[in-house]
Amino acid sequence: MNRNIIYFDNAATSWPKPEATIRAVETCLRETGGSPGRSGHGMSIEASRVIFNARDALSRLFSIDDPLRIILTKNATEAINIVVFGFLQPGDHVITSSMEHNSVMRPLRAMEEKGIELTILPCSAEGELDPGAFVPAIQKNTKAIFLTHASNVTGTIMPVADIGRIAREHGLVFCVDAAQTAGAFPIDIRATDIDLLVFTGHKSLFGPQGTGGIYIRKGLEQVISPLMRGGTGSRSEYEQQPDFLPDKFESGTPNTAGYAGLTAGIDFILSRGLNAITAHEKHLTELFLQGIGDIAGITIYGIKDTARRIPVVSFNVRDMDPATVSLELDERFGIMSRPGLHCAPAAHKTIGTYPAGTVRFSFSYFNTEEQIITAIEALRKMGK
Ligand code: ALA
Repeated sequence: MNRNIIYFDNAATSWPKPEATIRAVETCLRETGGSPGRSGHGMSIEASRVIFNARDALSRLFSIDDPLRIILTKNATEAINIVVFGFLQPGDHVITSSMEHNSVMRPLRAMEEKGIELTILPCSAEGELDPGAFVPAIQKNTKAIFLTHASNVTGTIMPVADIGRIAREHGLVFCVDAAQTAGAFPIDIRATDIDLLVFTGHKSLFGPQGTGGIYIRKGLEQVISPLMRGGTGSRSEYEQQPDFLPDKFESGTPNTAGYAGLTAGIDFILSRGLNAITAHEKHLTELFLQGIGDIAGITIYGIKDTARRIPVVSFNVRDMDPATVSLELDERFGIMSRPGLHCAPAAHKTIGTYPAGTVRFSFSYFNTEEQIITAIEALRKMGK
């Protein structure tokens, strides 16, 4: 594809990736080669180092004391499935929000059929959640709270510090879905009451697709069953799954080249500074919101305050179908967006855009002011 691309679909997957990510994947495939933790020859040891480096980079980014408490998975969805199916039991009660992605909602709904009770706290039409709503929702059998850190539809950042405190005070396990915030917003495990943090590598962490993971707070690994069992390269004399981290949850040969790229993506973030990245993305979001704010035919969803949102903006143009708008943006202006329900039907019901959904722009560090201005002009033409 050679035409000028304006890529505004970073909430689906970030593009472009830093050059260092691409080089790291290539170097790993060309030179590292071996299977990590398996064979013991030089190339295998080197591959183990690649995996160790990924855990180390993640623990630096999220301020996690012990890198072995990070389980590497193929994406946030797998990570959430490990928690939901490995931790919850029939009879447990779980609280979540109406802004969740289907990666959380579908596993929880499946467990509901197996006998868990589910309370879905409604958010406001702007996607905001009132932390005060949690305490009255807590029951005797409440075991956990599952909450997105930020909505992939409206970009609204959820009050995870407040809700973490409530979870801690009531002895509940707090699982945060950081698919949209890891790498885009500071997350400090030492300073918050997050027990389980699930994340993906291919969005704001600038890694390749097929990478992600979970941070598991000490002790919880004993009460979570693995989703998969198999070869780990450790304790091979036993036919039972090891019970220690990270092997309990990591079976089969991992995506070593993917994690090499993920480490490079995180190093890129740390070298630029997460705050500088966040500030640039916030600036682009403000510029865009200001620029389209006076276009009569455009409806913008979500809160106005950019300090409480990630760089994700949902909107509609007149009464046009979002898919038609997205197609026209692509064909006429080279702007890549994502229309529809964004795998989050509950969030769209909350903001009143179900079933057609919205057009979503999601910005990254690599987007520019010029691209935002081009998009505003494009929408001005379409909004008339
Ligand atoms: N969850 C991703 C999105 O919001 C795929 O587009």
